[in-house]
Amino acid sequence: MDFVIAVDGPAASGKGTVAARLARTYELPFLDTGLLYRAVGMGVLDAHGDLDDPNAAEGVARALDAAGLSDDARLTTGEAGEAASRIAGYPGVRAALLDLQQAFAHQPGGAVLDGRDIGTVIAPAAPAKLFVTATPETRATRRWKQLTAKGDDISYEAMLADILKRDERDAGRGAAPMVQADDAVLLDTTDMDIEAAFDAARRIVEAARVRHGF
Ligand code: C5P
Repeated sequence: MDFVIAVDGPAASGKGTVAARLARTYELPFLDTGLLYRAVGMGVLDAHGDLDDPNAAEGVARALDAAGLSDDARLTTGEAGEAASRIAGYPGVRAALLDLQQAFAHQPGGAVLDGRDIGTVIAPAAPAKLFVTATPETRATRRWKQLTAKGDDISYEAMLADILKRDERDAGRGAAPMVQADDAVLLDTTDMDIEAAFDAARRIVEAARVRHGF
């Protein structure tokens, strides 16, 4: 079995930061799978396509070049997150992005992936699974601070509404809904800063390493 660390959870839960730091700590390659969905959503918008059209989104997903996505600042915007969550429920889009994610997860030596369905669909046999969450209000405050620091003009109330809408869409969809895997460890970061969240995450991974002999 490969040393795969699966990190799932809702927007602004801290999962991305925790996953990136775990990858550095264990010297494993890291994939932020949200970027794939963000790139597909923005690809549809760039082509003047309709986010409500599953075929348009699937076409973009099938043609997606995943190289260099982490350098594209446009993908970190609220617009990209919203577009991503609108196309992420299409089964054709998820199928188009499946092989790429599974190949990444199963490369020799292991990997860290973060997303919504890593522990349930992409790498269900991952030996270390975390489900990172926090209250919607805490997540909205975090995301609002991030976006306004970058110059985005958005109110806290609009941010909270956006977070709640994305939670509902991601958890309510039929295809690979966001759900905690049975064997994932829940990490609630509501009252934690990033250091505390990372320490807690590392303890969870260390326990999994002992269990699986990595
Ligand atoms: O994690 P991030 O905020 O970048 O994800 C953007 C959107 O992409 C999510 O709201 C979700 O709809 C979708 N997504 C997904 N499955 C993943 C990763 C992201 O459906 N594994």
